[in-house]
Amino acid sequence: MKMQNAKLKTTYLKDYQLPDFAIHSIDLHVELNEDKTIVHSLLHVERRLPQQTTPLVLHGEGLKLLSLRLDEKPLAQTEYEQTLQSLTIKSVPHSFQLEIVTEILPQKNTSLSGLYRSGKLFCTQCEAEGFRRITYYLDRPDVMSLFTTTIVADKAKYPILLSNGNKIEAGELSENRHYVKWQDPFKKPSYLFALVAGDLVKISDNYQTQSGRNVALEIYVEAQNKDKTDYAMQALKHAMLWDEKAYGREYDLDVYMIVAVNDFNMGAMENKGLNIFNSKYVLASEKTATDVDFQNVEAVIGHEYFHNWTGNRITCRDWFQLSLKEGLTVFREQQFSASMGSPTVKRITDARIIRTRQFAEDAGPMAHPVRPESYIEINNFYTSTVYNKGAEVIRMLHTLFGQAGFRKGMDLYFERFDGQAVTIEDFVKALADANGTDLNQFFRWYNQAGTPLVNVKEAYDAKLKQFKLTLTQQCPKTPDNLSKEPFIMPIKVALYDEKGTKIALECKSNLHKTSEGSFLIVDKETNEFIFENVPIKPVPSLLGNFSAPVKLSYPYTEAELVLLMLSDEDLFNRWDASQRLGTKAIKSLMKDHLADKSLVVPTTLIEAYRELLQQDIPEPALLAQLITIPSFHYVAENLEIIEVDALITARKTLVEVFAQSLEEELAKVYQACQEQDDGSLKNTSMSHRALKNTCLYYLVKAGAKWLKLAQAQYEKARNMTDKMGALSAINHSTSTLRQTLFDDFYKTYQKEDLVVNKWLALQACADLPNVLENINKLLKHEGFDIANPNKVYSLINTFAMSNPERFHDDEGKGYEFIALRVIELNARNPQVAARLLEGLTQWKRLDATHSALMKNALIKIESSGDLSEDVFEIVTKSLK
Ligand code: TRP
Ligand code: ZN
Repeated sequence: MKMQNAKLKTTYLKDYQLPDFAIHSIDLHVELNEDKTIVHSLLHVERRLPQQTTPLVLHGEGLKLLSLRLDEKPLAQTEYEQTLQSLTIKSVPHSFQLEIVTEILPQKNTSLSGLYRSGKLFCTQCEAEGFRRITYYLDRPDVMSLFTTTIVADKAKYPILLSNGNKIEAGELSENRHYVKWQDPFKKPSYLFALVAGDLVKISDNYQTQSGRNVALEIYVEAQNKDKTDYAMQALKHAMLWDEKAYGREYDLDVYMIVAVNDFNMGAMENKGLNIFNSKYVLASEKTATDVDFQNVEAVIGHEYFHNWTGNRITCRDWFQLSLKEGLTVFREQQFSASMGSPTVKRITDARIIRTRQFAEDAGPMAHPVRPESYIEINNFYTSTVYNKGAEVIRMLHTLFGQAGFRKGMDLYFERFDGQAVTIEDFVKALADANGTDLNQFFRWYNQAGTPLVNVKEAYDAKLKQFKLTLTQQCPKTPDNLSKEPFIMPIKVALYDEKGTKIALECKSNLHKTSEGSFLIVDKETNEFIFENVPIKPVPSLLGNFSAPVKLSYPYTEAELVLLMLSDEDLFNRWDASQRLGTKAIKSLMKDHLADKSLVVPTTLIEAYRELLQQDIPEPALLAQLITIPSFHYVAENLEIIEVDALITARKTLVEVFAQSLEEELAKVYQACQEQDDGSLKNTSMSHRALKNTCLYYLVKAGAKWLKLAQAQYEKARNMTDKMGALSAINHSTSTLRQTLFDDFYKTYQKEDLVVNKWLALQACADLPNVLENINKLLKHEGFDIANPNKVYSLINTFAMSNPERFHDDEGKGYEFIALRVIELNARNPQVAARLLEGLTQWKRLDATHSALMKNALIKIESSGDLSEDVFEIVTKSLK
């Protein structure tokens, strides 16, 4: 093994041990300066088992120890030991007080973990293991403590000083400095600690809880953004009300603070009483944010708020339990978003994430169960599997128990574990106990990686009027090589006759009928369901509303799929049918392409889409989803080997033929939507804009004459949604108008950082031959900054994940470009570097040419020198 890897250690769930010590309280005193920051920490420590004599081992990283006193006596050098990751005090009494003074350099912290600078602000990010970069501590979630925090800083530069809980003291100091003291009455793990200092404006509002308590709501932003917080504030109030109504949970402090920062690795952080947000998920005005941005703000505000109960009041025992808080909170966020907007479109968006990102992860080298067994770097496990599949697993529990049973289970969970750090078993057992059942088999969803494949066979007996469905499940092998036991899952089912009329279900075995529909309960390798009194051979609608996170195959004919697309009562499954149709067509075009045949899109398919465009549909945004041709990644998850060039060509052909054949209908729908759109943020207006902009995209593909329409929309746009809609439509065009509009856009919005990021992202996903050259230029543009994660994600990740044609360049230039950026970011910001690797992990699934090129890019990274744990783990697991 190479030297550099000596430090890389794998952590295993099976090795979990309770901590030897409890820290009852921590009194922090943080002195912020322009060069260094001094952190005084006073801990009250007690051994949990009095008979033990183990040493006290505290976590710490990149700290300079200035002084160490135990029960007020300075410790001699021989009494403790320091390594790069720890501080060990060899002999300690049963109960004692420890005073630690450390020096840190937040100005030099480029990893955005621990205490760091974002512009002129000081801020923190402590999840998962950032607190140890601030002071020596037992930095693990099962050590919960009472925090008191005093912040001292220059008064002019940092008038606002914030930390968790309630402000209990403030005052002036000499040399133009001041201090504020905060106390958090709730015990919490260190990952929920937060501190912010800077010159920020405060936007205030308030909320009265269901029990009549008044809560001050405060959003802190830079002065120039003070007109962009209304939407977030409203979203927060909606979230507070929703959690009271849906779960009976109310907020528990007198103040709820949100701070927007520009430099942040992830979306946002649920620190107790003091959420820190990536500005992207707070700041939104109609001039700068699209409808999708508004929806994301609402979702993330909700997500972090819901963590107060699912994450903070009840937290994780260890990081293997991450989905205990994340899966559950994503599920709650999904329910909230569904209640605020369109449940069907929300469900489609979420299913897309699973079917593209999560399925890819499950089939790749980083595959892991919702509760992983081991990790090298925990930051690599904030994944789509833990978050999104974790939410799907909770959703299945919700389906199996129904809303009332699920609520009973949640109530018991809160009652049993409030104030504790617990495991996923604890959660699942609470749900099982409340419903008088056991969930032993269900628990496999947490322990087994991989996406189950459910194969469905049908047989119709006209004489007996019986329809039989045979479902066989199989879960592919994953890198852990463990054998897989069958999962239990609810598969939503309905049967339709040839006119699209529902047939009543009569089935003796295992059919679970609820107010949400009927579900086949599948729990064995093979399950059989016989439906009686079925007058004709029916068309089954299966896995409605995406009732389980599996791949389901059924031998649908094109005609059957068209029927479902046009008339399934389960609106989600109309979309599913549209995607099955699109995928089927693309696969068949791929075959023709590989056989050197000319590509012909079946007219029956186009005619079905034509009917769809002429039909009255429940909502325009749903129609927009139905006419969206499956993406590269979506189809890729349905392929054995991803023949890159064939897939890209086939998909392009379908899009072009679709656009050209349906030009007239698309133009009509565009016009109708334009008339219905009053420019407001009402759901129906957003819905019309979604469809309008989807139509515009196809129209520009249909012919150059539609460029004028895009230009007109761009010029007359009342909001960012329409501006971006126009610019996205024109983005892939070779006309000179493209550059004119892009230049105008930059000139107009160059002071709006988040809008500049959209400008970067659009250029990164342009379907044009010179994209990589342009991106290389943009790396040096004033609107780009490699230190800012949002900009890195916009320009570099968008290229890797949303520009398949250029990323999968036939000479490997796209892969190499990403490899170089990973190498560049590896030391500066390991978390961000690791996130750029996602696209490179899939090399084994590509055709031979692309596979070899992608592997080379990984080898290039592997041999580039000293790798961070984050990058090392993904690269080596990928190359295995
Ligand atoms: N807990 C955060 C959430 O709401 C995730 C998060 C924010 C995070 N910042 C982070 C995780 C930094 C790891 C590192 O989902
Ligand atoms: Zn979260």
